[in-house]
Amino acid sequence: MNRPIRSYVLRQGRTTAAQQRALEELFPKYGLPFQPESIDSGKIFGRIAPLVLEIGSGMGETTAAIAKAKPAADFIAVEVHGPGVGSLLNRIAADGLANVRVIRHDAVEVLTRMIPDGALAAIHLFFPDPWPKKRHHKRRLVQAQFAALAARKLAPGGTLHAATDWPDYAEHMNSVFGNETLLEPAPSGFVERSATKFETRGRRLGHPIRDLFFRRK
Ligand SMILES: C[S@@+](CC[C@H](N)C(=O)[O-])C[C@H]1O[C@@H](n2cnc3c(N)ncnc32)[C@H](O)[C@@H]1O
Repeated sequence: MNRPIRSYVLRQGRTTAAQQRALEELFPKYGLPFQPESIDSGKIFGRIAPLVLEIGSGMGETTAAIAKAKPAADFIAVEVHGPGVGSLLNRIAADGLANVRVIRHDAVEVLTRMIPDGALAAIHLFFPDPWPKKRHHKRRLVQAQFAALAARKLAPGGTLHAATDWPDYAEHMNSVFGNETLLEPAPSGFVERSATKFETRGRRLGHPIRDLFFRRK
């Protein structure tokens, strides 16, 4: 059987007691189980509002901050790493955020199976794993096929906001998204970002942080 190349390696990592409790007790409330069928965001959030999908939300710092700053939009965060999902669930409960749900699954499958075409006001892709070694470049999430998939899921005028501290991944993303016929460069972002662990680390190492904005034609 052909196994698809994944953009992540599932490391067990340490799950704290609080994260574990969140996965057990809060996931039923704020989590969405993966399902191979389209979701209806109106039913999930009980309203019709712009829908934002965040890919690889990590520990969820940015997700929670943006969702708090933008109560008129709804957010679905997708992350495969259990401790990160637990951490975001705890933030959602602590901040009383009614506009965030979390999916613990591969974002490519979530986009393909769960998100209807044209459903998204924005996609956030903040500090995707850079896979810096040349022989690992094939694991990078951003490839032509991903760009086409992401573009199709955006509503016309919807924004794709990506950020990275790896100059060569920034160049790569710029050219891959730039070559996608459904996308065009966009002048500004839908929202601001708040500094995450990865952004802070990049800055500490002196890496330039690049934000890329495209929008669906
Ligand atoms: C370098 S971290 C950045 C996390 C966060 N966005 C930040 O800025 O701190 C990349 C994250 O993407 C997640 N990830 C990578 N590929 C993914 C995929 N296909 N689906 C869901 N999550 C993915 C990883 O588990 C990891 O938590």
